[in-house]
Amino acid sequence: MQLPTKYSSGCRSVDRLLGGGFESGAVTQLYGEAGSGKTNLCLQAAVKCAKAGRSVIFIDSEGFSPERFLQIASACCSSTNEDAGREEGREEGREEGREEGREEGRKEGREKGREEGREKGGGVENVEEAARRIIIYEPHSFEQQTSCINEIETVVKEKRGEESRVALVVLDSATLFYRLELDDERSIYLRRVLANQIMQLLEIARKHDLAVLITNQVYFDVGNGNLRPAGGYSLEHLSKVIVQLEKAVEGRGKRRATLRKHRSMPEDTSCEFFITGSGVKDSQELK
Ligand SMILES: Nc1ncnc2c1ncn2[C@@H]1O[C@H](COP(=O)(O)OP(=O)(O)OP(=O)(O)O)[C@@H](O)[C@H]1O
Ligand SMILES: [Mg+2]
Repeated sequence: MQLPTKYSSGCRSVDRLLGGGFESGAVTQLYGEAGSGKTNLCLQAAVKCAKAGRSVIFIDSEGFSPERFLQIASACCSSTNEDAGREEGREEGREEGREEGREEGRKEGREKGREEGREKGGGVENVEEAARRIIIYEPHSFEQQTSCINEIETVVKEKRGEESRVALVVLDSATLFYRLELDDERSIYLRRVLANQIMQLLEIARKHDLAVLITNQVYFDVGNGNLRPAGGYSLEHLSKVIVQLEKAVEGRGKRRATLRKHRSMPEDTSCEFFITGSGVKDSQELK
């Protein structure tokens, strides 16, 4: 028996909600209205994974935003180095046992962190390195989306056993083309194709112990007045973790994530997060 690996979203409150992060061996679905933060979370998870030395396959039916990627990746790289420096500084300070020592330690640690970051390729170089580990596909139709999914196992296999093996596959959004092409005549067929795509991703996740993250759009269910995820029951069934994202009324950038389905965490629990210039953060990380 093997416990799943948890891949961080880069936002503590979301990681806590998920019991540590996005699980390997399963499909996690993020659904929510436009602007609720689905793509931001996918990008940040991809950057985190790439920063840890793993590869990511990012299938982006919406068109990948290099600007947003750079904003998140730059912040992620510099904050990691500074955090390391701050920790080191605190340790040194504690050893000295003096307030002065602590202060000095913090300062030196911060500087050292920045320096080492630069040496190890922290600043811009590190962003470039992270970018190299993200393999982007941009399908232009539902058929091309199927072809991309058919192709990715070859990439996963090529990198198997390497340090930079594929740890995360993102499909953002799974249902964009499905919904664009949806009409009564083709709906049963399209639904089956979509289910097959996700089934294939689930098989890859299980076989290669990697995490799959898909995003999904919503529709308004007039029957019960709720926003429901698109794609039908098979999509719901194949996603072992489902998270709903919503805009919060009270604040700019503020969002709510609610766990709708999970195998080992309580459902209908939720957390807050914020979309900022540098990515997705919880209220503590904003300070
Ligand atoms: N640099 C930034 N600073 C602050 N907020 C930003 C920044 N860049 C993007 N955002 C915010 O992120 C939000 C969009 O989030 P995101 O693209 O993750 O939504 P989404 O759920 O993927 O939407 P869609 O369904 O349209 O794809 C917008 O509210 C936008 O203002
Ligand atoms: Mg999006």
